[in-house]
Amino acid sequence: MTVTTPAVVMDNGTGLTKLGFAGNDSPSFVFPTVIATRSGGAASRPSPPSKPNFLAHSQPGASGGGGGGGSGGNIGMRRGTEDLDFYIGDEALQMANGPGYGLNYPIRHGQIDNWDSMERFWENSLFKYLRCEPEDHYFLLTEPPLNPPENRENTAEIMFESFNCAGLYIAVQAVLALAASWTSSKVQDRSLTGTVIDSGDGVTHVIPVAEGYVIGSSIKHIPFAGRDITYYIQSLLRDRNEADSSLRTAERIKQEFCYVCPDMVKEFSRFDREPARFEKCVVEQGLKQVGIDVGYERFLAPEIFFNPEIASSDFLTPLPQVVDSVIQTSPIDVRRGLYKNIVLSGGSTMFRDFGRRLQRDIKHIVDARIRASEQLSGARSGGLDVGVITHKKQRNAVWFGGSLLAQTAEFKSYCHTKADYEERGPGIVRQFSLFNVA
Ligand SMILES: Nc1ncnc2c1ncn2[C@@H]1O[C@H](COP(=O)(O)OP(=O)(O)OP(=O)(O)O)[C@@H](O)[C@H]1O
Ligand SMILES: [Mg+2]
Repeated sequence: MTVTTPAVVMDNGTGLTKLGFAGNDSPSFVFPTVIATRSGGAASRPSPPSKPNFLAHSQPGASGGGGGGGSGGNIGMRRGTEDLDFYIGDEALQMANGPGYGLNYPIRHGQIDNWDSMERFWENSLFKYLRCEPEDHYFLLTEPPLNPPENRENTAEIMFESFNCAGLYIAVQAVLALAASWTSSKVQDRSLTGTVIDSGDGVTHVIPVAEGYVIGSSIKHIPFAGRDITYYIQSLLRDRNEADSSLRTAERIKQEFCYVCPDMVKEFSRFDREPARFEKCVVEQGLKQVGIDVGYERFLAPEIFFNPEIASSDFLTPLPQVVDSVIQTSPIDVRRGLYKNIVLSGGSTMFRDFGRRLQRDIKHIVDARIRASEQLSGARSGGLDVGVITHKKQRNAVWFGGSLLAQTAEFKSYCHTKADYEERGPGIVRQFSLFNVA
């Protein structure tokens, strides 16, 4: 059977899941990666073994190509109706406000942490939100850099055995983010060489990619991202005894009022000179509306990327310095390309002027190094281009890059099919061919 329907593109992040069909401009659904179950916290079914167990419950002939299997596939057979008593996304958050339901976040710091919850989460994502028949679609899923191969296998096992999906490709998020940057007018050649800064909710990664290959040994993680910035704002609201210091309000302040300033010390005095910079965020409290003062946190919160000591005592290296050292530890022949194409991806890169400050600070570091080596050697250097790319699709860059790649005519030839899986088992997903798209 040939599959002509668009591929499903699903980017499950620590905070948000982005879900939709290839070829679209934006995901059809964006909702929190959270599940509410009756028993609370962990899901009620025992977790699957950590080792792939496809041999144990594969049912030859039960799937593939027949077409009439009905949605739910094996899931319907394996579970009783009590197992359907769960909610995902915003609905899950609502249910957890009442009694009886507990929340579980199946992804931690970018990696799937609870496979049972993840399977249920996918089940509702596909059948309740996207309303698709997985056997009629190829799938593009995403993974963080350095994802262990066992995780890929577990994913393949669930996708093929529980959902009967027609084909599967698991793409590295950073490569998709690079592809998404092709929409920027600043990007002239559709190259898969560049440094990706992906900062979402749970983790910030700096990932060098050369011609589609992630340079694994040079990747660096920064242990804070959007969620930590929200916590920081919350702590400032609490210190001031604001009428509402909930996470929701802190997150709203972060998204609506925060920006990156050129110089923290000068920004303080600018606030003191221009009182209009202090704002009010109006929130509903029951039937009342209350005004929450928003002050220095407008620039202090995202400043954590540039002066991490503001909020943390463990990790003290500013992001521009991390980017520079990632590129410096990459092979010398790709460094020029890595400096020239520094691509932003993820919700926490959306602060106004984030890219501009990053570009300036990285350029300072690079120029200082060039000056020092000129002094040492006495020779003049031709300089080095530093380019930080911001673009319109940056917010959901990973999903959008997936949508671009999965709509190409070649996409299916890069996927593993259900037939491949039945023949050779989940080990097939240890290898993936790279897109040859340039
Ligand atoms: N306009 C904005 N300004 C600042 N932060 C924002 C903005 N919009 C979204 N965010 C933050 O971005 C984060 C979500 O980003 P994203 O969807 O890229 O993360 P994720 O993919 O769920 O997580 P991860 O990539 O870490 O696994 C949240 O913390 C959210 O508050
Ligand atoms: Mg993400």
